[in-house]
Amino acid sequence: MIKKINFKNVPSHLAIIMDGNGRWAKKRNLDRIKGHIEGIKSLRAVTSTVMECGIKYLTVYAFSSENWQRPKAEVNSLMYLLEEYLNLELPTLIKNKIRLNFIGNIERLPESPKKTLLNVIDKTKEFNSLCLTLALSYGSREEITTAAIKMAKDIKSNKIKIEGIDENLFSSYLYSRDMPDPDFLIRTSGEKRISNFMLYQIAYAEIYFTKTLWPDFSRKELIRALKNYEKRVRRFGKSEV
Ligand code: FPP
Repeated sequence: MIKKINFKNVPSHLAIIMDGNGRWAKKRNLDRIKGHIEGIKSLRAVTSTVMECGIKYLTVYAFSSENWQRPKAEVNSLMYLLEEYLNLELPTLIKNKIRLNFIGNIERLPESPKKTLLNVIDKTKEFNSLCLTLALSYGSREEITTAAIKMAKDIKSNKIKIEGIDENLFSSYLYSRDMPDPDFLIRTSGEKRISNFMLYQIAYAEIYFTKTLWPDFSRKELIRALKNYEKRVRRFGKSEV
């Protein structure tokens, strides 16, 4: 049984830019990959706390489209860790009824982790206690450009009409088509930027920056961030009442 933590309001969709694995490792004179291994432990702890809080959608930036430019050894290790994470996590996802999802251009992933990812997605597709989305080979500009290309093709083939295009229709062409926009975005490691992450979807998200490096981001840290969210007044551009 999952314990429950009660907040007056929690985000329905929490998105996280998990940053600082490399610096965490460097501070300890360790290989960067050790930082990513510790980062996966944080992801597990955060996923379980998210469930305790009743959050329905968790999206994490696991690998950006720009991350392909990292040294080959680091990219290979991250792909290996991704596959290992998916294999080890599957029983927990099933036990906790978590649906796994992805956003990003996964065609660029190597065959083996891609196959494992699609298998885990298939095995968890009926679950709905939490939707855990991995942003993999993800870049927001690429997502928006791809959506525009698909729409242009659909206009050309008379599937849709230009007059019918509105924000709802546009959103349905994005990778995130099946989920609500994030309400709360956390970025760890002290960097204060968005790094091409869900640019369209975070239009009205509350943002929280913490200096904590991702491998040190604990359950306690997440609860602190959620307490901060609880106090925010969201106006969505309207005036105060
Ligand atoms: C940023 O740290 C993090 C990433 C590049 C990816 C996040 C990856 C993980 C948490 C582990 C892998 C997760 C899965 C599911 C495989 P950084 O390397 O940019 O750190 P730095 O900015 O300190 O160098």
